[in-house]
Amino acid sequence: MLRQGIIERYGEYLPCVPEGAGIISLSEGSTPLLRAHNIESRIHPRIELWLKYEGLNPSGSFKDRGMTVAVTLAVREGHKAVMCASTGNTSASAAAYAARAGIECVVLIPKGRIAKGKLAQSMIHGARVLQIDGNFDMALELTRSITNNHAIALVNSINPHRLEGQKTGAFEIADDFGGVAPDFHVLPVGNAGNITAYWMGYKEYKEAGKSKNLPRMLGFQAAGAAPIVLGKPVDDPQTFATAIRIGNPASWQKALDARDESNGVIGMVTDRQIKRAYRTLAAAEGVFVEPASAAGIAGLFKLAQSGFFDNVEQFHGDKIRVVAVLTGHGLKDPGNAVEASEEAISVEATEDAILDAMQLYHPSET
Ligand code: F0G
Repeated sequence: MLRQGIIERYGEYLPCVPEGAGIISLSEGSTPLLRAHNIESRIHPRIELWLKYEGLNPSGSFKDRGMTVAVTLAVREGHKAVMCASTGNTSASAAAYAARAGIECVVLIPKGRIAKGKLAQSMIHGARVLQIDGNFDMALELTRSITNNHAIALVNSINPHRLEGQKTGAFEIADDFGGVAPDFHVLPVGNAGNITAYWMGYKEYKEAGKSKNLPRMLGFQAAGAAPIVLGKPVDDPQTFATAIRIGNPASWQKALDARDESNGVIGMVTDRQIKRAYRTLAAAEGVFVEPASAAGIAGLFKLAQSGFFDNVEQFHGDKIRVVAVLTGHGLKDPGNAVEASEEAISVEATEDAILDAMQLYHPSET
């Protein structure tokens, strides 16, 4: 069967897309939900951990869910161009969907702070890639102002259509569990669109009678870029997880609402903690994500160590069910993967040298 895109699959919950709209899709969504047996036991004995692997979307990140809606509607409204500011993934997704739609795409990015894979995507899809000596927050402000004054559709997550599409991730999770939301939903927080969209999705699905309960939302920022945790904007945000290097999130208040309405937590994790979770996901579960995507898992380890899960109640079954959204694919950022790993070993092109270097067994033992 052909894989449906999210507008086809969940159109009845997307009233912003009118009947008969020409849908611009790359068959996004319907991503796997993987049980993480190897990691869950290391976090807490009571936890059942599931990974929502959003890196398997067409452009390699969760942004495609919102982009199919935003670009479909931009085209329908007669726009010939879309524009976004980005730490890399939004631009890659916008470039792909604009190419699919046959319209122009302009992306504004912080120079030198975009992972290689993401930059390559925007370029090969034919977007006009503009880089500024400045951070994401400045790029977003400029993009807002330009799209306000020109006939170009803004496709950052302050465009409400983006959040409409992204909320479908919550629907898929509840559907996969047979109409039950997890006890906890964990994700990284940058510009705070995704936590806003997931919370909206869970609430809508419950109101529609498709899900019995609501999760508690757990969001994590990088310690060097944690304005929501610190309660004030960060002028010069820093983290190796460049996707969430954001000092003044656009959906700040909505993220606080999601936290408070769900009795959740927004915390922060250091680059060291993110790096450890990044390697553990790849080495212990075979799931390769980009650094920002590991921030949620790092946060789970941290919360568990503080005793957070010792006394919480679960809605369903014997264990505390946790879903972690892994927002982007590891191949987006090959530079950080190489840096975080052991170096490749150069060997002479002989069997002896290779077997020696393998350190598994020696020819004399065979
Ligand atoms: N994870 C990844 C891989 C991201 O690319 C982003 C955001 C986030 C998490 C945070 O999501 O902003 O909704 O809180 N990336 C944006 C971009 C900012 O431009 O690609 P958020």
